[in-house]
Amino acid sequence: MPAYVIETRDLTKFFGKRNIIYHLNLKVPGGAVYGFLGPNGAGKTTTIKMLTAALRPTYGEIKIFDLEMPRERVEIMGKVGYMPEQPIAYEDMTIFEFLTYMGRLSGMKREEAVARTKELMKYVGVGRLAFNRIKELSSGQRQRVAFASALIGKPELLILDEPTANLDPLGRIEFIGKVLELAKAGKTIFVSSHIVSEVEKMCNYVGLIKDGQLIEQGRVRELVNVEGTDYDVVVSDNSKLLRFLKEQIYVREAWEEEGILRVKLDERFAERFFVEVPAFIAREGLALKLFKSHTSPLERILMKRFNVGWEG
Ligand SMILES: Nc1ncnc2c1ncn2[C@@H]1O[C@H](COP(=O)(O)OP(=O)(O)OP(=O)(O)O)[C@@H](O)[C@H]1O
Ligand SMILES: [Mg+2]
Repeated sequence: MPAYVIETRDLTKFFGKRNIIYHLNLKVPGGAVYGFLGPNGAGKTTTIKMLTAALRPTYGEIKIFDLEMPRERVEIMGKVGYMPEQPIAYEDMTIFEFLTYMGRLSGMKREEAVARTKELMKYVGVGRLAFNRIKELSSGQRQRVAFASALIGKPELLILDEPTANLDPLGRIEFIGKVLELAKAGKTIFVSSHIVSEVEKMCNYVGLIKDGQLIEQGRVRELVNVEGTDYDVVVSDNSKLLRFLKEQIYVREAWEEEGILRVKLDERFAERFFVEVPAFIAREGLALKLFKSHTSPLERILMKRFNVGWEG
């Protein structure tokens, strides 16, 4: 068993003279839900196209299941479910025809493909649309069908390019649940997104890409040792605590907003905040109702790396 299900070495892509992907060294362990996170134009789709042999690298190596892409693409793609950014070309087929066709392509007998199609149409929530043509579908419905199509061959590895882009809010929540279910069943999932909160809910590994470069990669839990500097606090007497906070050297700014004290810390002295504020709260006999970082762990990494967050 190789250490990584996907591993690239110095993966690089030029379009003409433009260098779009620089020396990407992706490491995706087996069983990971790996969030490939980056803003628009960062190079996510270009990378994914190289991983799925839709595009040839300018140079660099790609290994998937320890096999070499693109040389061994047929064998690799037999174990991969791929959901492209612009899914489905078979516009005149019905959903049912399309999925059974994809099942047949992945090597199933007709009855098996039909049974799997029925199961998956239900699973992704397009059961009632079975005999609608692809060209008649909304973009969210298409995305659901594309997800079913990625799953049809029971792949060990799923490569999903912004799979939730067109889903409604409930569809997104359901989708995240399904990804977690698939991960529990032992699948490896590589999923691109520019939505931090979504990656946070779904992924245990993350790779941050910006301007074609991987700027951070690893297990989310290990990367997030970055302390936050914005805290939210609520106590039984907010104005009393606020007066105290405003006098402290480790507080750059503090104000009250909708019943919550927002505190911006001076990083140099931040440690004292965690010692002195609880001590003050105890000394004054205040009830502590909320004490938490204002930014989520991934947002903190982004802030540290880019000095700003991004949200899509
Ligand atoms: N075929 C192409 N020829 C020239 N440039 C391209 C081509 N495809 C993509 N690019 C450029 O490569 C860069 C990365 O594009 P890519 O589609 O990989 O980004 P992305 O991270 O998937 O963005 P998004 O979040 O918008 O989907 C962009 O600047 C884009 O203009
Ligand atoms: Mg893209």
